[in-house]
Amino acid sequence: MKVIIAGATGDIGKEIVKALIKEHTLLLLYRDERKKEALKEELEGNYSFLSIRELFSEPEIILSAFSSFAPDAFVNAIGDGFYAKVEDASLELIEASYEANLKVPFFLTQLVYKVFLKQKYGHIIFINSISGLEGFPYGVAYCPFKFALRGLAEVMYKEGKRYGIKVSSIYPGIVDTKLLQKMPFCPQKKCLISPHEVARAVTYLLSLPKEAEIKDLILKNTKLIWR
Ligand SMILES: NC(=O)c1ccc[n+]([C@@H]2O[C@H](COP(=O)([O-])OP(=O)(O)OC[C@H]3O[C@@H](n4cnc5c(N)ncnc54)[C@H](OP(=O)(O)O)[C@@H]3O)[C@@H](O)[C@H]2O)c1
Repeated sequence: MKVIIAGATGDIGKEIVKALIKEHTLLLLYRDERKKEALKEELEGNYSFLSIRELFSEPEIILSAFSSFAPDAFVNAIGDGFYAKVEDASLELIEASYEANLKVPFFLTQLVYKVFLKQKYGHIIFINSISGLEGFPYGVAYCPFKFALRGLAEVMYKEGKRYGIKVSSIYPGIVDTKLLQKMPFCPQKKCLISPHEVARAVTYLLSLPKEAEIKDLILKNTKLIWR
């Protein structure tokens, strides 16, 4: 299978890359040259990198690279944590979260969707969050865009169905990544889900036969004990 992974240099993204690289050919999307070089050191297998730094100024370059790669699947693991109380959230914070959690994922997925439409097959997997299903304190800049990402997945699921396009979302609880450092409160380490579990969920979704699909997979923390 040929799989595009967006956010390949992130903590969850990297685990997805490592879980898939033995059996699949990967196109890894990145924005930071240093992180790309560091990831390259860890990888062995069939893969190539594609920079998305010029995504908004030169989308045709990305689209053309996607078309020639002819992907079977696309995984979006791009996103970032922005936390504040309702009364404190600035418009700058809202805009930065919109960019990372909705605008970039939307635009990249739209480009892939165009390729899938032509191919009449393809599988889109969004790494969403429990915050796309429930609101949380301090989540005013984060939850609304994860809800919107879920809305995007719902629309793509229904529009894509008649063209043979599968759309799945994974909603993890709190995962042990560097994003935790930004959270205003965080559970004890022993309660955290490993990024590897999210990667295993992706592997499972991709392993399903053509006639079966999982639309939504909620990967909750069994219990949360707060520090
Ligand atoms: N950690 C959790 O508890 C948790 C739980 C549920 C869902 N999630 C979601 O899972 C996804 C991955 O999170 P993570 O924990 O692996 O965090 P991470 O290590 O910070 O990875 C985030 C990835 O998104 C990329 N990114 C962030 N903002 C971007 C932007 N504006 N444009 C392009 N790329 C951007 C980062 O690129 P660089 O590598 O260049 O920085 C990185 O590859 C996110 O959507 C997050 O919301 C996380």
